[in-house]
Amino acid sequence: MTLEISPETVGRAFDGSNLVATARDELGRLVGVCRALTDFARHCFVATLAVHPDVQGSGVGRALIAFTHAQAGDPKQIVIFLNSSPQAVGFYERLGFKREPACFSFNNVS
Ligand SMILES: CC(C)(COP(=O)(O)OP(=O)(O)OC[C@H]1O[C@@H](n2cnc3c(N)ncnc32)[C@H](O)[C@@H]1OP(=O)(O)O)[C@@H](O)C(=O)NCCC(=O)NCCS
Repeated sequence: MTLEISPETVGRAFDGSNLVATARDELGRLVGVCRALTDFARHCFVATLAVHPDVQGSGVGRALIAFTHAQAGDPKQIVIFLNSSPQAVGFYERLGFKREPACFSFNNVS
């Protein structure tokens, strides 16, 4: 299933995030972004991680996650949570992320 997301929704999502990290190339062009919500105490939810295809595999994603973790609060206290896209599972495993068996999502009131 492909979910269409409007530019307005993307704008609201960024406006509502309290930790946004960007990566730029030597010409200042945006090549990566990590958008997160952190309580600066215990939990940081990474909602968006994207690296431009031209620079994928060169360490940008790893650097964005490391920077986000460092900025999200005391690194010894903060736990990062996220939902991985199927094609990025290997990336998170490579970075040492652990699969959580009891993770839930909810988007409907029944
Ligand atoms: C997934 C993504 C963020 C990874 O970013 P990246 O900059 O390409 O990754 P890095 O170069 O920092 O890779 C770090 C390590 O993970 C490995 N890796 C990267 N992508 C991988 C994948 N899909 N599967 C397995 N390993 C992967 C790299 O080989 C590297 O390994 P190393 O430690 O031996 O050097 C990027 O490919 C991307 O934006 N993909 C499309 C959007 C997407 O899926 N976003 C995630 C949504 S949850």
